[in-house]
Amino acid sequence: MAASIKSTTFLLIFAFMLISVLAGKFQNLGAAYEVLSDDEKRKKYDKCGEECLKEGDLGGGDPFSSFFGDFGFFGGGQRHGERETPKGGDVVMDLFVSLEEMYNGNFIEVVRKKRVPKPAKGTRQCNCRQEMVTQQIGAGRFTMTQQNVCDECPNVKLVTEERVLEVEIEPGMRDGQEYPFVAEGEPHIDGEPGDLKFRIIQQKHPRFERRGDDLFTNVTISLEEALNGFELYIPHLDNKKVKVVREKVTWPGAKIRKTGQGMPNYENNNMKGSLYITFDVEFPKVELSAEQKKAVSSVLGSKFENFHSKVYNGLQGY
Ligand SMILES: *[C@@H]1O[C@H](CO)[C@@H](O)[C@H](O)[C@H]1NC(C)=O
Repeated sequence: MAASIKSTTFLLIFAFMLISVLAGKFQNLGAAYEVLSDDEKRKKYDKCGEECLKEGDLGGGDPFSSFFGDFGFFGGGQRHGERETPKGGDVVMDLFVSLEEMYNGNFIEVVRKKRVPKPAKGTRQCNCRQEMVTQQIGAGRFTMTQQNVCDECPNVKLVTEERVLEVEIEPGMRDGQEYPFVAEGEPHIDGEPGDLKFRIIQQKHPRFERRGDDLFTNVTISLEEALNGFELYIPHLDNKKVKVVREKVTWPGAKIRKTGQGMPNYENNNMKGSLYITFDVEFPKVELSAEQKKAVSSVLGSKFENFHSKVYNGLQGY
């Protein structure tokens, strides 16, 4: 769609241009191209060109503005006039962050070796671009040739410098999230530097696993705790203790969900995910005396009268 509008526009403007030339608006084509080889004017044309096109207002200004702005014909390599200034490469660096830092937030200082342009002796060629040069070779006859044209600029050299960058780890940041530093990437001698992006990589935690804003942890309790109930405290990522109390029997694999004890939500730190605690029960590795067995039976045996050992192949769920 856009392409066909552009090519239609192109044709219209090209026709207009020819008519203008014939009507003596420019004495010859050379004059038209002169406008373009002037950097300042070209920039202005490019800017106007984009805006004029956006507003669909082609008739407003100089028809050449749209012509050159939109097609960037003489724009020094960048097509369609989208971006004038060349840009250095973007740099992505992995930054390993602990789950504690993602929970609490933190500032991390990173030393980056970076190449920075510094003034140097002499001059260098710059702003190189392709330009059309028109020559009259007889009445009503022209040749147009493309030429590489450069300016002379003060020389620069790239010097490696160390920079300390401070990365703010905000609470709730996610694994893989990118943290940009505009213009801290690779330099470009003729243009602007690229961007530097830190990619946040969440390190494995010994006690917590994270899924989205939820946290998961495992707790092993004794058989006695499993049967009689318990009260325990789990140190959280900010070292605050999360209290877990149970009166009922807890079986292996039982889960407790603590709402509001997960990770803070990145977009809204007031919201937090859940903490899921999965219990494992450690059985005592002892042999009970006849008396102890009796005692166990007296407590559990009667309650589980209806329970009969089940024999099954254990493959369910595989
Ligand atoms: C909890 O235990 C399960 C099963 O053994 C395991 O897959 C999971 O990684 C454990 N979680 C944590 C946070 O250690």
